[in-house]
Amino acid sequence: MPIRVLDHHLIDQIAAGEVIERPASIVKELVENSLDAGAQCIEVEIEAGGVRLTRVRDDGSGIPAGELTLALSRHATSKISSAADLAAITTLGFRGEALPSIASVSHFEIVSRHVDADRAASVSVDAGVAGEVIPAAHPPGTTIEVRELFYNLPARRKFLRSEVTEQGHIVRLLERLALSRDDVAFRLRTGSRTLLDAPRLQNGAAADRLARIVGGDFVERSLEVDHSAGPVRIHGWIGTPAAARATSDLQFWFVNGRAVRDRLLMNAVRLGFRDVLYSGRQPSYVLYLDIDPVLVDVNAHPQKLEVRFRDSRQIHDFVFRAVERRLAGTKPAPGALPPAWHGAATHTSPLPLHSAVHAGPVGLGGTWALSEISGARDPSFEGVADSPPPWAAAADGMPADAAAEPLGQALAQIHGVYILAQNEQGLVLVDMHAAHERVLYEKMKSHTGAAATQLLLAPITVTLKVDELDALLAQRDQWQAAGFDLERLSPDTLVVRAVPALLPREDIAALVRDVVHGVAEDGAAHHLDGATDRLLGTLACRSAIHAHRRLSLAEMNALLRQMEQTPRADQCNHGRPTWTQVTLAELDRMFLRGR
Ligand SMILES: Nc1ncnc2c1ncn2[C@@H]1O[C@H](COP(=O)(O)OP(=O)(O)OP(=O)(O)O)[C@@H](O)[C@H]1O
Ligand SMILES: [Mg+2]
Repeated sequence: MPIRVLDHHLIDQIAAGEVIERPASIVKELVENSLDAGAQCIEVEIEAGGVRLTRVRDDGSGIPAGELTLALSRHATSKISSAADLAAITTLGFRGEALPSIASVSHFEIVSRHVDADRAASVSVDAGVAGEVIPAAHPPGTTIEVRELFYNLPARRKFLRSEVTEQGHIVRLLERLALSRDDVAFRLRTGSRTLLDAPRLQNGAAADRLARIVGGDFVERSLEVDHSAGPVRIHGWIGTPAAARATSDLQFWFVNGRAVRDRLLMNAVRLGFRDVLYSGRQPSYVLYLDIDPVLVDVNAHPQKLEVRFRDSRQIHDFVFRAVERRLAGTKPAPGALPPAWHGAATHTSPLPLHSAVHAGPVGLGGTWALSEISGARDPSFEGVADSPPPWAAAADGMPADAAAEPLGQALAQIHGVYILAQNEQGLVLVDMHAAHERVLYEKMKSHTGAAATQLLLAPITVTLKVDELDALLAQRDQWQAAGFDLERLSPDTLVVRAVPALLPREDIAALVRDVVHGVAEDGAAHHLDGATDRLLGTLACRSAIHAHRRLSLAEMNALLRQMEQTPRADQCNHGRPTWTQVTLAELDRMFLRGR
């Protein structure tokens, strides 16, 4: 075949192939146009998952009758006019492609009245050919109707999913758009059913829109973020570790009001969460990045879902640190509940204690109290070294100042696992291993005081692969900070002369191997300083005080005081809660007091 220039209709269809994937893409393009036109109220109506009909009506600025045909032409836009405009885009659209693309793959009609005009006009497009502009009735604003999507592209139509699936995509998409602008009302209907209704909010009620779209549950378990540095600002909400999910479906990013799924930004948040989430759990968040438009290129993805930052490294660090710092603020404060149980205290108790009172055989039985609370009865305590843990040093003679000690005073150890304490609000329960793990981890990470070390009478040798030993020794400083003294004996032999004071002696070789393998295994999945943190995390977990070790009251109190000083003390290194509060009011309710 000779080379030839394609006809316009075919060019439009090719362009549509990139941008118009499914009915939701049409909703996106049309609603973005409405937002660019300054609409305050946008109504979307669909039939058959948007395939039979998608209609978008807005009360924006409208299009003058004389420009209506132009609006449907390729590369015709009112939004930019020069390269300088392209370099600093402030509108959602700018390519002048959406309307001609959509019109080339559907039966299309537009009715619009410009704010300054006294009459509306309309144009229909069929098989890519625009008809005459004719007068019409319409209030100021625009309505666009798209019928029978892909009627002329059977191959594309075959790829569409069921009506329910396509409708779901539209709902998700409109939710995203509704989160991007709470000053605009959005409504989505199909037949007589309303699928989404987000009324316009006056300033300050942003959390209402958030609750409506992503649910009050998230709002209750999230932390507000607002942090600026020079030309960049990040604001919005990040879910506490307790709000983490199995999937990434509650992750919203908006860059200058544009919904994006940008890998750099998503990565930065994940990194900020790395210390507080189980592996495999996904953080949830709704975050807005406002940035000087000159510093971001939005013309980087066919559907404008990704952006390119002029200084991506800096943005990555900015976001990562803002998230990390916000999460670090979750250490116990006077009167504060751990986020894991936030809101629970005022409704029903999340603790098994509660149900035990009503149903459990141990609940009110006379045998419960003393024998269960005293750890001394546990046979596994026998033979455990009783040297005080290193963090017990400053324990004695602490003043019982309730405000300075939010976690209160230790009373007892339960089953060798939990510490029972009493504070101003009521009862505090601490998972001692999880809490100690967090304390150790943060300590190792900040290098404040190396962990206490125990010299081994007989040094232990560990055989490893040569490259594993190389990798281990590359992190020798971290091992040292954790309390290990290590040296290479031969290319594949390591000698361990000292270990963290709390480590059980039997399994040191196994521990070293575990840590080396664990760190190597997921090493490729992370970047930045992830490897070090993982090493510290594993070491902290393995070095933290183990269950069934008997603690004195002074030791328990020392741990409580250290938790109060430790960032992120609410969760252990795996994201599990480390402590919880049962308030007096809850206790009263359990025992039906005051009724
Ligand atoms: N709802 C609307 N209200 C007012 N003007 C509109 C509306 N929809 C489209 N227009 C006008 O039609 C033009 C073409 O729209 P189209 O979506 O094709 O291109 P664009 O928005 O400029 O760029 P992009 O292809 O990136 O979306 C717009 O530039 C705008 O002037
Ligand atoms: Mg557009």
